[in-house]
Amino acid sequence: MNNYVDEQKPTATPFVEIRNVHKAFPIQPNTKPAPAVEDVSLLIPHQEEGDFVAFLGPSGCGKSTLLQMISGLLAPDKGEVYALGKQVSGPDPQSVTVPQAYTCFPWLTVLGNVEFGLKTHGIEPVERRKIATEYLRKVGLGDRLDANPRQLSGGMQQRVAIARTLAMRLPIVLMDEPFGALDAQTRADMQEMLLHLWQGEKNLVVFVTHDISEALLLANRIVVFSSRPARIIYDLQVPFERPRPQSLLYDSQFVKLSQVLVGLLKHSESESPDSVSQSGK
Ligand SMILES: Nc1ncnc2c1ncn2[C@@H]1O[C@H](COP(=O)(O)OP(=O)(O)OP(=O)(O)O)[C@@H](O)[C@H]1O
Ligand SMILES: [Mg+2]
Repeated sequence: MNNYVDEQKPTATPFVEIRNVHKAFPIQPNTKPAPAVEDVSLLIPHQEEGDFVAFLGPSGCGKSTLLQMISGLLAPDKGEVYALGKQVSGPDPQSVTVPQAYTCFPWLTVLGNVEFGLKTHGIEPVERRKIATEYLRKVGLGDRLDANPRQLSGGMQQRVAIARTLAMRLPIVLMDEPFGALDAQTRADMQEMLLHLWQGEKNLVVFVTHDISEALLLANRIVVFSSRPARIIYDLQVPFERPRPQSLLYDSQFVKLSQVLVGLLKHSESESPDSVSQSGK
């Protein structure tokens, strides 16, 4: 099966290329591994202005597993992953991940948490303080630099995570359901903030979610996965202009596309990958 988006002819090294990747885990200890990700191929071409791709799929289908293979934290059993043209064979210095269960380092201040990632990339102290402060201001935490993360709300801690990730200014940012634990209003605020921040960065964000509205509001492209084992069942170019206000949720085309995606997720077990046309054309 070819999951490539035909009309996007790559002109530069793709952001990410996944070729026929498989990964299996035992369902019970001491049993034979059963597939969690099955023959996934995906091309995310380079875009001058950056790109925002959502991975959408039911819980337990294999989204985090695939993301971990892009970041190099997990090796595929079969197939290859390339990030900016280089085969990923271990933790990739070109990508950074906001994990599904985010925890700030409690022994560091808010500023220290953001500086930490920069330190691991060899940025010298004066520069890293400047960059960390700038990104914490961008996420509205300029007045909490010396706070302990435990003094912050969940939403604020997640803003520290986003600041820490984006401050690294890496070309590939992997986000694993970063807003999953937040209440609806905080989540909407965070979505807006993330889009605002991302628009200046020109990087690739791969954003895992099982929330259809979130995927439609944030992404340029939505790759939809079946239930375990994850296979690509749909590849949608999102047609909405930016900026995308929350009021888009009530737009008739938005509602229609949501319904299509609900139907796909509902029938994702029985759907064969070749029975659904590509790119939502
Ligand atoms: N290290 C592991 N050992 C054994 N099984 C695993 C391991 N990691 C993941 N799995 C299994 O692989 C499948 C896919 O897991 P994964 O975490 O990728 O799903 P997901 O799509 O991210 O789900 P969610 O939306 O709930 O986060 C699940 O059935 C999970 O139990
Ligand atoms: Mg997950």
